[in-house]
Amino acid sequence: MKTLPEKAKGIAHGKIILMGEHAVVYGEPAIALPFRATPVEVTIEKIPTPNRIISSYYQGLLCEAPRSLNNLSILIKTICNDLNQSSDHLSITITSSIPAERGMGSSAAVATALVRALFTYYDEQLDASHLLNYVDLSEKIAHGNPSGIDARVTSSDVPIFYQKGSVFEPFTLNIAGYLIASDTGVQGQTRQTVKDVADQVKRSPDQTMPIIKRLGRLTLQAKEAIEKNQAVTLGKLMTQAHESLRQLNVSNDLLDHLVETALSHGALGAKLTGGGRGGCMIALTRTKKEAELVSNKLMEQGAVKTWIHALGADNEG
Ligand code: MEV
Repeated sequence: MKTLPEKAKGIAHGKIILMGEHAVVYGEPAIALPFRATPVEVTIEKIPTPNRIISSYYQGLLCEAPRSLNNLSILIKTICNDLNQSSDHLSITITSSIPAERGMGSSAAVATALVRALFTYYDEQLDASHLLNYVDLSEKIAHGNPSGIDARVTSSDVPIFYQKGSVFEPFTLNIAGYLIASDTGVQGQTRQTVKDVADQVKRSPDQTMPIIKRLGRLTLQAKEAIEKNQAVTLGKLMTQAHESLRQLNVSNDLLDHLVETALSHGALGAKLTGGGRGGCMIALTRTKKEAELVSNKLMEQGAVKTWIHALGADNEG
């Protein structure tokens, strides 16, 4: 019999969808990148008492946790069952720097870190496909009808090009530019926006499906622009994608205002990222200096936090 450790850790990180959110749920392609500036760590410790959870959102017994943590309770039970382990006497500490419900993949990242921590704790091997199955299960409970992109990118070290039903491709995002991610401070509503888009597709397929197809085409064009290192083209495509996402009714006034602010201060393009109606937006600039200027303007105009991310070869100026 294995001697279990007293403590085990699992890690993951946030994500940014560069292009293709929402459309990816309908089989269109998307491009997403790991966002290492927002790490998540889950620690499992053995305790003599019933399972408890410690996070910035909830601290207490797992069996009394709010419904929004159901995905984690079910995940723990499923994994312990699969590994023939008792699912009790665990203390689960979640330390996350991803703002919750901001379209940065918080739920998938926490699930990824939790699965990794549990497998390490029980000293079991975990391959990529099992990890994804568990995170997909958790995301279905959290979001209803996820495309699976968040699960894949929060456990990936490299950007990915993803289309539902196909194997996801690692994708080199080496473009001379800087991405500014900006948090509106307003909780996004991924579950609700995914549902609302589904209702819109049902109610008016002839108006809605062309918007979704267009988002798919914009993603393919963005992939080409990245491969050819065409930052200006990529920026234009991002702004066009934002317009299509607006037509899907997943933007809001603050996201639109921050997109406008970025564009009027020299960004090559800007759009919401993730589920929308709150959460985060992204903007592209050519240089770090421009990124800092855009970032300052976004903070002046209502953003609560920004991150600057180099997309490739340094391009100071
Ligand atoms: C959420 O990060 C991205 C959405 O496309 C939903 C999904 O793909 O599951 C809005």
